[in-house]
Amino acid sequence: MKAVEMFENVFWVGVLDWDERDFHNFQTPRGLTYNSYLIVDEKKVLIDVVKHKFVAEHLEKISKVVDPKEIDYVIVNHIEPDHASGLADIMRVAKNAEIICSQKGKEGICKNFDCKDWSIRVVRNGETLKIGKKTLTFIDMTMLHWPDSIATYLVEDKILFSNDAFGQHVASEERFAEDIGVEEAMKWAKMYYANILMPLAALVKKKLEEIKNLEIKMIFPSHGVAWKDPKRIVESYAKWANFEVENKVVIVYDTMWGSTEKLARIIADGAGKFATVRLFNVRKDSWTEIVTEILDAKAIAIGAPTIHNSIFPPVAGFLTYLRSLKPKNKKALAFGSYGWNGVAVKEIAKVFEELGFETMQFAVKFKPTKEEIEKAYDLGVELAK
Ligand code: FEO
Repeated sequence: MKAVEMFENVFWVGVLDWDERDFHNFQTPRGLTYNSYLIVDEKKVLIDVVKHKFVAEHLEKISKVVDPKEIDYVIVNHIEPDHASGLADIMRVAKNAEIICSQKGKEGICKNFDCKDWSIRVVRNGETLKIGKKTLTFIDMTMLHWPDSIATYLVEDKILFSNDAFGQHVASEERFAEDIGVEEAMKWAKMYYANILMPLAALVKKKLEEIKNLEIKMIFPSHGVAWKDPKRIVESYAKWANFEVENKVVIVYDTMWGSTEKLARIIADGAGKFATVRLFNVRKDSWTEIVTEILDAKAIAIGAPTIHNSIFPPVAGFLTYLRSLKPKNKKALAFGSYGWNGVAVKEIAKVFEELGFETMQFAVKFKPTKEEIEKAYDLGVELAK
């Protein structure tokens, strides 16, 4: 229950949610972190609060550094409940604190809480706040990850408190990527990007362009570990936002009586001659992991049988998730088996076409024949090439 001084007079007072395994359908096998930071200058500034159930722990950590009653500013970078649901409890203690947020942040705060007795200052992009020797600048982060989002930049120390952007869903006693290992941190950061930010790629690109001249020495996000050297994560965000691909084919399927599974395995054999292959069963594998692999795959194949003149429901559910994430820049194969009517393959192809993928289709009645097995293999080769 200790606060951690991460930089001179900048303390981590966040909490670790070790046993949470589901963050709005994002599977979190290693739990997650709600980061909150306390800057101690002439003014005492709290950056973000935490999920409501952890407020007592949060206050205890703040108390190790300053009396929470003495907090002057509570910056609400983002109002999603993982960061802001503890706000009312903090404001009950920090009675004199002024809340700082965006205009949309204020609207959300006053919808979620009784805000009539709170002093709320709305800030715009580029606005600054002197807190003593140091200065904060607020940066508009619209849609990273909600319309209300802002980031806070500590000017003299060049630290960006980026909120959701550059975060990862992982619980760790270590506070820096360099301490858990940059590769380990990147693995969680990629999963976070794929499942939270992929549909916002155009805005990520725009924001990276806007902040490219901002000298950032360190990034302190509101989830996971911080980045002492931001170069790798910023470059990776640029790569992911551009949908740069690896030589990788991802195959996803479900099966009723084994025919679609057989096709999936043959397609994997063919693709595996020329590319790395990941094969997933939608009912057994984590969708969080599947879409992380799809993010930088050059090709995907999704297979489903037809049932009740419709697509097999587990694949339909996965397609709904995939469509919402708006992946781009893929070649795609819709495949599957059917008894009397091959609806499923057409449904998969429809989603691929909506996503702008160059799409092939392959539907097999009952069981694949020898010729159809050869055809599936060739389609795998074609995807990989
Ligand atoms: Fe971590 Fe969009 O909340």
